[in-house]
Amino acid sequence: MNSKQIAGEKACEFIEDGMVVGLGTGSTAYYMIQKLGDRVAEGLQVTGVVTSKATEKLAKERNIPLMDLNDVGEIDLTIDGADEVDGSYRGIKGGGGALLFEKLVAHASKKSIWVVGEDKVVETLGAFPLPVEVVPFGYKQVERQLEERGYNPELRHFEDGSIYLTDSQNYILDLHIQAIENPEELNDWLNNLPGVVENGLFLNYASSIVIGYSDGHAEVREK
Ligand code: 5RP
Repeated sequence: MNSKQIAGEKACEFIEDGMVVGLGTGSTAYYMIQKLGDRVAEGLQVTGVVTSKATEKLAKERNIPLMDLNDVGEIDLTIDGADEVDGSYRGIKGGGGALLFEKLVAHASKKSIWVVGEDKVVETLGAFPLPVEVVPFGYKQVERQLEERGYNPELRHFEDGSIYLTDSQNYILDLHIQAIENPEELNDWLNNLPGVVENGLFLNYASSIVIGYSDGHAEVREK
């Protein structure tokens, strides 16, 4: 078993009968959703709220009942992946491009658990490029301001060379910062930049982290 599978399957144990569950996106959340599909087949009653079209497809394949975010009140628990996590339960998300829906779902959740392999735990955020979702209209203006601040923005592309589009048909600029000394200040600055829809800093969302290790064990850290 790889560390992602260990983390994803362990976190699934926190889902209880009757819960409304936010379903994350990515290759670690994948294992949680697969396990949840097994539990639903055995009779567990849950309602899922998806964070991307890819997760919607996966959840439907596993017969997990779904509701639109608009139609639920609070979400009991969201389980999602992350690209980096620091010791203060802050993280970078959006490597898979789903940061906007992921943050909306996390914001509506009473609790969020992140599932990560051991390699995602860092001292300082920023070695992983920080995704910033921007509207296509005038995005070069935003890019210019990010360049001026020394953030080395790179427009994300699909493998075929075309510009990457999010589920909301926006672009992503990945910032190559290396070390983000003050994530709160950067988050505020990005959120105030016209054209920015969302950024991948998730600073106050994770209540627990499940870390999978390649030796086969999982560690649960509670905030
Ligand atoms: C998608 C995300 C993912 O949760 C994040 O990229 C981690 O992905 P993976 O589990 O595949 O490493 O934020 O937008």
